[in-house]
Amino acid sequence: MKAAALSSFGGPEVLTLTEIPEPQADRGSVRVRVRAAGVQHFDGGIRAGWAPPSLDLHFPVVPGNEFAGVIDQVGDEVIGFIPGEEVLGYGTLGAYAQYVVVPADQIVHKPRNMPWDIAGGFSGNGQGAHMCLEAMGVGPGDTVLVNGAAGALGTFSVQLARAWGADTVIGTASEVNHDYLRAMGAIPVTYGEGLVERVRALAPQGVDAAMDTAGPEGLRACVELVADTTRVRTMIADDAARELGVPLLGPGRSSERLVELTKLYEQDRLHLHIRQAYSLAQAAQAHRDLESGHGRGKIVLMVE
Ligand SMILES: NC(=O)c1ccc[n+]([C@@H]2O[C@H](COP(=O)([O-])OP(=O)(O)OC[C@H]3O[C@@H](n4cnc5c(N)ncnc54)[C@H](OP(=O)(O)O)[C@@H]3O)[C@@H](O)[C@H]2O)c1
Repeated sequence: MKAAALSSFGGPEVLTLTEIPEPQADRGSVRVRVRAAGVQHFDGGIRAGWAPPSLDLHFPVVPGNEFAGVIDQVGDEVIGFIPGEEVLGYGTLGAYAQYVVVPADQIVHKPRNMPWDIAGGFSGNGQGAHMCLEAMGVGPGDTVLVNGAAGALGTFSVQLARAWGADTVIGTASEVNHDYLRAMGAIPVTYGEGLVERVRALAPQGVDAAMDTAGPEGLRACVELVADTTRVRTMIADDAARELGVPLLGPGRSSERLVELTKLYEQDRLHLHIRQAYSLAQAAQAHRDLESGHGRGKIVLMVE
């Protein structure tokens, strides 16, 4: 099968279209013929040579931890899925390929009205945003700050906070993305120096919860703005979080979480803007685009 794989660690150029053996579904797992795979910063970390100690990597390494496609093999003891069904799901590696194998409890049925590009990019950041807002206890009446609100995580976070009843969501972005934030129901504000004062002017009643997706500087602003640090989280600045007494976000992806997100999509309460769709052969370009650090919504790879 074709895969975008790396045979050494390095910059985006190490990701090349490669022919590798098809994986086989074993007990408790399914094989999915991938139609689209999301591109995540985690994939870039793997490519650059950073990997969690629990991951034992052997070249060629195929990145990709979220995908959508059609089930084409079902292992023994799998209940609830049959070949031919359209699904979306998550794993750790392997989604930048024509076939991926994952445990059956890491997929859910794809909503009928969800296009492949959106389905491919829906599982990872959707769940990250869900976990973060849940950990902060976001709910009715809250004023919430999302730092880095136009990106993939921010796009999900702004809409989820609104769907969960937050009164006011303030999102930071470059000015070019302010209309994008308004369309999702957030009040836009420019990030960078003076952010704390700008947010205070927009929310004289105070900010109840704040999430950072951009780094230590943004996290410090979140901590300054929120009285209770248990209602602050970061997706990126763990060292600064320890220093500031902000709880770390643990693992927590699950099919239950994904089902809840797909229901919100079906109810037209959660949308995902696709920033750019690339082919599998353009995976290196997709990584360069993501690593620019700017842009709206989600980058995906379409797989033929
Ligand atoms: N811990 C986890 O489980 C987890 C999971 C997923 C992602 N992450 C991390 O979370 C971060 C965001 O991920 P993503 O997928 O949302 O990234 P993304 O789609 O690349 O979006 C990044 C966003 O950050 C904004 N930005 C750039 N510089 C900023 C600054 N100085 N202050 C505030 N915002 C700034 C950009 O906004 P403009 O375009 O408007 O400039 C852009 O929209 C990444 O570092 C990623 O590694 C962590």
